[in-house]
Amino acid sequence: MDNRPIGIFDSGLGGLTVLKEIRALMPKESLVYFGDSGRAPYGTKSRETVIKYTLQDVRFLLKHDIKMIVVACNTASALSLEKIKENVDVPVVEVIKPGALTGVKSTRNKKIGVIGTPATINSRAYEKEIKRLDESIQVFSKACPLFVPLVEEGPEWWENEVAYKIALEYLSSLRNEKIDTLVLGCTHYPLLQKVISSVMGDGVNLVSSAYEAAKAVKKILDKNEMNSDEKNKPIYKYYTSDSVEKFKPFCSAILNDEIISVEKIDIEKY
Ligand code: DGL
Repeated sequence: MDNRPIGIFDSGLGGLTVLKEIRALMPKESLVYFGDSGRAPYGTKSRETVIKYTLQDVRFLLKHDIKMIVVACNTASALSLEKIKENVDVPVVEVIKPGALTGVKSTRNKKIGVIGTPATINSRAYEKEIKRLDESIQVFSKACPLFVPLVEEGPEWWENEVAYKIALEYLSSLRNEKIDTLVLGCTHYPLLQKVISSVMGDGVNLVSSAYEAAKAVKKILDKNEMNSDEKNKPIYKYYTSDSVEKFKPFCSAILNDEIISVEKIDIEKY
């Protein structure tokens, strides 16, 4: 038994999609979330900058006596996982492997599309992992840099005409490749699921790593007998490096929670 919280971080708000799955699968676990919205996006920054930022995020979470770290950001997972592991002695769960595995399980025609930030796509992390799991699969990758600022603009932008037009522009080439599975390789993209799905059509299965990442968390807790007590009353703490006013409506829209306590922190101190 271990009632310490699980630490989760993302470059901003998209990681809440991972937190939501973790909370649903493990309702007794306390969670500490940090969203680095003040310095987002990570996906257009250099490897050095992403590593520096993620190590600061991790140091902040470690102040909360956490029992595990979840890197709920594809860009951070792709670029800085090894560095994080070198710096912590708690288990670390990332989102690329779970997302790749879900994609491999889902495809029938062995043609998978992967979309993500420029940093994630350029790292080829998904492609390598999918090929490691099944080298006969063809992978078609596409960076979609405008999706993140669109999501960060707020829920009213997630399903409007602008979102649809951007999705059409980015995804037409993948549609032409006749993929049957599209991996949403960025924690923000599940929030654009409706427009992405309407562009790709019914025949394409959209997969996100959030659910599989939550399963990976549970597996580690089970294996190491680190689950929280059945009687534990979970506490959820949210931190952001940007304004609390911006964070709250997102949190409510993604998690369907009414009252959310959020604190702004200065991440540069860590
Ligand atoms: N959270 C990032 C990811 O999953 C997307 C946002 C960003 O670029 O910072 O790749």
